Amino acid sequence: MKRDVIIACDFSSMESTLSFLDLFKGEKKPFVKIGMELFYSEGPSIVREIKARGHRIFLDLKLHDIPNTVRKAMKVLSALDVDMVNVHAAGTIAMMKAAREGLTREDGTRPLLIAVTQLTSTGDEALRNELLIGAGMNETIVRYARNAREAGLDGVVCSPLEAGMVKQACGTDFMTVTPGIRFADAAADDQVRITTPARAREIGSDFIVVGRPITAAEDPVAAYRRCLEEFVGL
Ligand code: C5P
Repeated sequence: MKRDVIIACDFSSMESTLSFLDLFKGEKKPFVKIGMELFYSEGPSIVREIKARGHRIFLDLKLHDIPNTVRKAMKVLSALDVDMVNVHAAGTIAMMKAAREGLTREDGTRPLLIAVTQLTSTGDEALRNELLIGAGMNETIVRYARNAREAGLDGVVCSPLEAGMVKQACGTDFMTVTPGIRFADAAADDQVRITTPARAREIGSDFIVVGRPITAAEDPVAAYRRCLEEFVGL
């Protein structure tokens, strides 16, 4: 798996997203993540527009529903020609298998499919006392990752600090996509379990998802290049 940096385009409109991406004219076209806010406000046209500009796209919609509904929704997303999509592993192995079926095109190709294990916003206290998952965080993450692998998914989204544990349980070819990235000399913002691009590389992340350290930087292109240097070694 070739390591890469994915920029989280957490903007609220097509206009602000495209003017941000305009900064990268003449650069390597970054792999971008489109989340719920942008997709729900702009619809599929935002995906077509960014795709037409030559970017790869991770559509981060975290599907979680009955298998039949997820299969049909994934078929629609596959036709949009995105490069990576995701589901919640909590939807069960049956749901993840249905997602994979729905995504697979007639010629056998499909976007990468990854699963969210436990959101990094869920703490141990909520896991045990609200969700009644007594197994604890690490055991749950490893089990959900194994379930995703059994369903034929390509990997999971997790904290970079969990990537080593997932690789150990599921094999080095099972992808880890990791947000929670900050430069060593920068603020953490609202992220808690963070690490640097260089450390994420050492732990074994395949893709880092980086938002504000690039989008809010004074010079976003320079910040993106710094991520590539530290994480990919370009
Ligand atoms: O700005 P920042 O680098 O914190 O952005 C990280 C991105 O990754 C955001 O789009 C956030 O929603 C997403 N994300 C995350 N933690 C997760 C899953 C997704 O930070 N567990």
